[in-house]
Amino acid sequence: MSARPEPRLDLGDIQGTVLRPRPAVCQGVYLLYRIDDAAAARRALREVLPAVTSATHMDEPRPFTFNIVFTYTGLAALGVPEESLESFPQEFRYGMAARKDVLGDVGASDPAQWVDPMGTGQVHIGVVVIAREAGGLAEPLAIAAGLAGVSQLYRCDVYIPPGGREHFGFLEGIGGPYVLGSGIEALPGQDPVMPGEFILGYEDESGQVPAMPYPEILGRNGTFLAFRQVATDVAGFRRYVKEQARSPEDEELLAAKIVGRWRSGAPLALAPERDDPELGADPHRNNDFAYRDDDPDGRRVPRGAHIRRVNPRDSLTGSIVDAKIHRMVRRGALYGPLLPEGQIEDDGAERGLIFIFMGASLVRQFEFIHQAWINNGDFVELGDETDPLVSIHDGPATFTIPGKPVRRRLAGLPDFVTIRGGEYCFMPGLEALAWLAADRP
Ligand code: HEM
Repeated sequence: MSARPEPRLDLGDIQGTVLRPRPAVCQGVYLLYRIDDAAAARRALREVLPAVTSATHMDEPRPFTFNIVFTYTGLAALGVPEESLESFPQEFRYGMAARKDVLGDVGASDPAQWVDPMGTGQVHIGVVVIAREAGGLAEPLAIAAGLAGVSQLYRCDVYIPPGGREHFGFLEGIGGPYVLGSGIEALPGQDPVMPGEFILGYEDESGQVPAMPYPEILGRNGTFLAFRQVATDVAGFRRYVKEQARSPEDEELLAAKIVGRWRSGAPLALAPERDDPELGADPHRNNDFAYRDDDPDGRRVPRGAHIRRVNPRDSLTGSIVDAKIHRMVRRGALYGPLLPEGQIEDDGAERGLIFIFMGASLVRQFEFIHQAWINNGDFVELGDETDPLVSIHDGPATFTIPGKPVRRRLAGLPDFVTIRGGEYCFMPGLEALAWLAADRP
């Protein structure tokens, strides 16, 4: 654990989603809007503002959370002055669809194939509401319905089921940084990271306060957010591991090697031979590992496995410093029905995850992770191998599993996910929201 002094964060001004973990089981709705009448939208925002959830009193359970974000075209449509718009980073101004080459969104994941209206420039405002139960959504949805001067273009209902497993069957939401100053207890193995890596207006890992959008009131306590709808081919995943496996036990092992954890959440780093559901369910133990000394060549967690790529921990440099500047706050929730256990034929229903990835720099965090780690094998000496779970390779790929006496190489790996859409957003602090909602001369 860090000996660094805890920075003070203005929790009352930061939107809750950045620092507040979601309830282990919950229901939620993502809504996307277009602004048709800026003055009416600003007026309505002023009404909605008191309902926006901040990061204060995080230990107190709340009936629901309500958070709000804007795309670049949304800030422009709302009437944000030009000098302010120009002060936003370029990748945010371009938007996610325009960054398809950096993100590797090709083939069926190309923005041209995305679910309307994502990637069209029509998305201006995003709202996310989360409640413990479906019944708890009525109130925040009624608040969202109070937004005026806008048209709702998209709604996606999401959930985290009892047990917390995503569609492929793995416990989700374990690995994540500990944001210094957040006031939440750090769990063993969570790397403490300076708040400026995630929230604007604070020191980051370099000891600097990164540049903020202008004016300061607009930037401070804000964060950039990548919204991503990812469909999962669950039947395809099950069929593939079954075909490749030598036995039912081997099937589980192969699935675990692809992710880096067993389905229970137990990390291969600590349970290399067989699953350990108790370990998987114990937040005080299930993330407490590193790679460099215990597993340098990936015999436990393959160096190309999903979790080792997206957070190489100490394996790149012998310390976690390098990985730390590429961390994000990640929140995922499921959409679509679960495929019944054991079913290996597709039922035609779309299912997947809606992710939000938050951080101070889309380029250094979300985009870097895609370009340098998910879609690239060089950093782990794996040539053109890519992330076996989440990369879009648009054609069969391979995955190497180091082992003794011989390694295994899985061939003919299909895409298990398809990007259905996404948007780059800015999640302002609460004072910034009031600034955005104010009428300008
Ligand atoms: C449908 C797509 C995806 C699925 C099913 C998925 C699944 C998982 C699972 C099962 C874990 C292990 C449990 C945990 O630590 O929470 C995990 C960890 C993680 N995933 Fe993904 N993931 C997906 C996409 C992505 C993408 C696109 C990124 C990055 C942009 C990403 C970043 C991470 C990170 C940072 C971790 C934590 C790693 C660690 O700290 O050890 N995931 N994911």
